[in-house]
Amino acid sequence: MKTLIVDPKSYIDKAAELILKGELVVFPTETVYGLGADAFNPDAVEKIFEAKGRPQDNPLIVHISRTEQVESVAKDIPKAFYTLAQRFMPGPLTVILPKGDKIPYTVTAGGDTVGVRMPDNVWARALISASRPLAAPSANISKHISPTTALHVYEDLNGRVPIILDGGACRVGIESTVLDLTAEIPTILRPGAITADMLAPILGEVTASGTVIKTAKSPGMKYQHYAPGVPTFTAQEMLRAIAEYDKFAAEGLRPVIIAREVSCGMLGNRAHISVGSTGEEFANRIYAALHDAEKCYDRIIVEELGDSGIENSVMNRVFKAAGGHRV
Ligand code: TXA
Ligand code: MG
Repeated sequence: MKTLIVDPKSYIDKAAELILKGELVVFPTETVYGLGADAFNPDAVEKIFEAKGRPQDNPLIVHISRTEQVESVAKDIPKAFYTLAQRFMPGPLTVILPKGDKIPYTVTAGGDTVGVRMPDNVWARALISASRPLAAPSANISKHISPTTALHVYEDLNGRVPIILDGGACRVGIESTVLDLTAEIPTILRPGAITADMLAPILGEVTASGTVIKTAKSPGMKYQHYAPGVPTFTAQEMLRAIAEYDKFAAEGLRPVIIAREVSCGMLGNRAHISVGSTGEEFANRIYAALHDAEKCYDRIIVEELGDSGIENSVMNRVFKAAGGHRV
């Protein structure tokens, strides 16, 4: 199969047609690119698992374009969903709800709940409006880093999908917050740009499963995700990052340090990639930095951030990329 990277402006109708025919379409969202299929068509959804090499026990998020559409994919929807929708949708928030009867078990990996999200990207919503709610995971090969540009997708899925709608670089850069509203206390299963501090005033109470999620409540959490193709480490302090860098270099390896702008100032002529000054910038640039680093270097060291707000969400991904290896 030939994979085309296309301009959504002229291809949205063709893309909707493909979805209705049971084919896959890659589309941009504000978080990362998604690999979409008709959420009501189990054969189409099956193709997602094949194209990604995704384990069958990992459920998919269903993407909608209007709040009311939730009623076609979920049931027994609590009031809190609508309050959250008013405040955060469209946006980088996925809410776990009781599964609607029209959603096949292929989407939910056999479970009775479904993740629902309304992406904040005009092309994503245009595609859904012109076709169906879309079941979609991140558009990477299973366990690789999530894609934040059409080119990242192409590098992973060339030959496995017919078209990639190129919507430019993703604004947020890390995957959505996953919030379980079916739990007794609303629980964050995956931290993201919508943080516990933002959700608590609306929900009254919210708990987070933390960066290390031991239960398989959100099955995707038990896998090492987001892993670059070369060994990756996190550094608690820049001095340690530098010591480790120099050790690798002395062994004849080509290391690189990914760090905040201010920290890069300490590095002299050591290879580095700056990911900006704020947690938001770090989130926005981290996957592109990891994609670049794995192509040009053979060891990656990432500076650790703090553990609150979006910094915690970014570190959740970075610790997984490093498989917990710290220096
Ligand atoms: O930002 C995002 O969420 C992106 C874009 C494309 O929307 N999607 C994404 O999908 O990151 P994926 O499949 O790569 O990650 C979805 C995560 C997985 O860890 C999965 O286990 C969890 O959400 N999940 C999905 N449905 C669930 C459910 N019903 N219950 C618990 N966890 C669920
Ligand atoms: Mg993913």
